[in-house]
Amino acid sequence: MVTQISTILLFISFFTLVVPSRSRSSLVASSFIHCISYKLPSNNSILNVLYLPNNSSYSFILKSTIHNLRFLKPTTPKPLATITPLDYTHVQVTVECCEQNGLQIRIRSGGHDFEGTSYRSEVPFVMLDLKNLSSISIDMEKNNAWVDSGATIGELYYSIAQKSPVHGFPAGLCPTVGIGGHLSGGGVGNLIGKYGLAADNVIDALMIDAKGRILDRKSMGNDIFWAIRGGGAASFGVVVAWKIKLVQVPPMVTVFDLTKTLQPEAITLIHRWQFVAHKLSEDLLFRITISSTIDGRGGIEATFSSLFLGRADQLLEMMEESFPEIRLRKEDCIEMSWIESVLHFAAYQRGETIEALKIRINPLPNSYFKGKSDLVYKPIPYEALEDLWKRCSNVTSPFIHIELHPYGGRMNEISESESPFPLRKNVLFEILYIVSWMDDKDGKSSENNINWIRRLYDFMTPYVSKGPRGAIWNCRDLDLGENDVCGGSNFSKSKVWGYRYFKNNFRRLAIVKGKVNPHNFFYYEQSIPPLVLH
Ligand SMILES: Cc1cc2nc3c(=O)[nH]c(=O)nc-3n(C[C@H](O)[C@H](O)[C@H](O)COP(=O)(O)OP(=O)(O)OC[C@H]3O[C@@H](n4cnc5c(N)ncnc54)[C@H](O)[C@@H]3O)c2cc1C
Ligand SMILES: *[C@@H]1O[C@H](CO)[C@@H](O)[C@H](O)[C@H]1NC(C)=O
Ligand SMILES: *[C@@H]1O[C@H](CO)[C@@H](O)[C@H](O)[C@H]1NC(C)=O
Ligand SMILES: *[C@@H]1O[C@H](CO)[C@@H](O)[C@H](O)[C@H]1NC(C)=O
Ligand SMILES: *[C@@H]1O[C@H](CO)[C@@H](O)[C@H](O)[C@H]1NC(C)=O
Ligand SMILES: *[C@@H]1O[C@H](CO)[C@@H](O)[C@H](O)[C@H]1NC(C)=O
Ligand SMILES: *[C@@H]1O[C@H](CO)[C@@H](O)[C@H](O)[C@H]1NC(C)=O
Repeated sequence: MVTQISTILLFISFFTLVVPSRSRSSLVASSFIHCISYKLPSNNSILNVLYLPNNSSYSFILKSTIHNLRFLKPTTPKPLATITPLDYTHVQVTVECCEQNGLQIRIRSGGHDFEGTSYRSEVPFVMLDLKNLSSISIDMEKNNAWVDSGATIGELYYSIAQKSPVHGFPAGLCPTVGIGGHLSGGGVGNLIGKYGLAADNVIDALMIDAKGRILDRKSMGNDIFWAIRGGGAASFGVVVAWKIKLVQVPPMVTVFDLTKTLQPEAITLIHRWQFVAHKLSEDLLFRITISSTIDGRGGIEATFSSLFLGRADQLLEMMEESFPEIRLRKEDCIEMSWIESVLHFAAYQRGETIEALKIRINPLPNSYFKGKSDLVYKPIPYEALEDLWKRCSNVTSPFIHIELHPYGGRMNEISESESPFPLRKNVLFEILYIVSWMDDKDGKSSENNINWIRRLYDFMTPYVSKGPRGAIWNCRDLDLGENDVCGGSNFSKSKVWGYRYFKNNFRRLAIVKGKVNPHNFFYYEQSIPPLVLH
């Protein structure tokens, strides 16, 4: 009897060793399919939302929300299967069956991850694409809403505007960004000065854990609820829905965009801006975008744009007093409703209907891109800005986009440990660096452009936060470091990149992870490692 069992065991381990990895994956895949087939009643079969690589829609679904063409190459590893859940039970079953079959899972809401971590992995994986879990229900009496993760922030803005012209939500600018990734990572937008991050305005959530259980704020407990609002939820579970607070906006807001192309003037204004932008008023967002001119001839320009929660006269008065150098004129100011300002900042033309916010295709064409981020606590010297400008002018074909986004206001009132997102107090502004390009024959453009932005980032070292140099989680950057490909995260090793995003909160995140998912099922390139204290 004993010999028989050990012969079988020997056979099994021999079998697993010699079977080539592709057919092993197909064994795992069929075992996974077998598992999901039996967990739900036949009138709610998950098989109707399962896409295998031989299905004619597989590729369409996979590509549909890939926003960075760097990860849409023939060599990019593809999922063994994609599931597009129609209800929460589909998510629960997918998680349970992946867990049982030792398969990794990738969770995708809007697919905007800078490094594609929501839809690619070096090991066999299943992609859970939440795009069809996108309902939004708004309670105007209580000023809150339940939003499914697969909705976009544009759909949320649209739904709020359908109910009220004086309510909004403080999230990002690009309407196609997904609720799931955005809220779990922070979320910086035009209302940051008054209301903080998108994640700061979450009041409840529904999350499916590694055992397939569905938890709300109460049943998940304070630690997990703290972690998933800024610490990236994909390390802890699949958040299927969020309850958010709506915020007040006035019936009329004012916007302006002033573009400066001439070098000494533009740099003088950028330099001066650093001293005022973060403390003008919590009702005013005043941002700078340094970008390539659209003619593609390698020119560079700086656009000063603003959203003011009030009327033009008041804005003019404020600018005249605090920043006369910008010479804002009445005719530069456009008054509109808050929802129109959302369209404006999403680069839609004036007059576009708000239905455009529901379009899930980006207003701008997809491109290859690499992004990085920084936080600035002390004004950058004039000479350094001059150098930065030169570096950006010295590039021809790729498109450069550098955003200087002020904090201040509400961001100064939230302590470093109140949320996983620590980089708030006394931050003058955040810098987002993006370089993008449209074609990539034999990978040369990618190599050149990524090297260019890395050099720019090195150049900026003396002028930005240090000890450690901070970075923004929602601008994911795998140059900072990543977990090993095949399992086994290591807290001491991950600290190198983890402290960059989270400072000391990284340790607490790792302890929470150790409690909720010690076996590290929710694992990816920058997942939080479990730290189990003895
Ligand atoms: C064009 C563009 C514009 C942007 N504009 C802004 C902006 O104005 N402000 C700003 O702050 N950021 C902005 N971002 C960054 C954006 O906030 C982040 O990339 C965000 O994580 C995207 O969320 P997503 O759901 O679209 O992405 P996804 O790629 O689907 O997910 C991102 C990460 O979150 C995880 N995740 C997604 N859904 C869930 C879920 N339901 N449960 C658990 N984990 C989940 C994924 O696994 C992945 O690790 C922009 C990005 C792009 C590409
Ligand atoms: C499936 O059938 C059961 C019992 O008839 C019913 O309660 C349930 O709502 C049905 N589910 C769906 C998705 O139709
Ligand atoms: C592809 O998968 C979908 C969803 O499971 C299914 O409805 C469709 O029939 C499949 N198509 C083919 C050709 O198998
Ligand atoms: C796709 O593959 C699955 C599993 O390997 C198989 O059951 C199915 O019949 C195939 N479908 C098509 C359309 O070839
Ligand atoms: C899923 O969402 C897509 C849009 O992203 C839509 O076209 C499709 O009809 C939806 N499918 C179901 C079954 O709801
Ligand atoms: C501009 O680019 C050229 C080559 O691409 C390089 O030799 C030169 O040093 C660059 N100048 C600056 C100021 O970066
Ligand atoms: C974890 O990483 C640290 C630092 O790289 C290394 O010294 C240590 O040996 C690693 N521990 C394990 C268990 O791999």
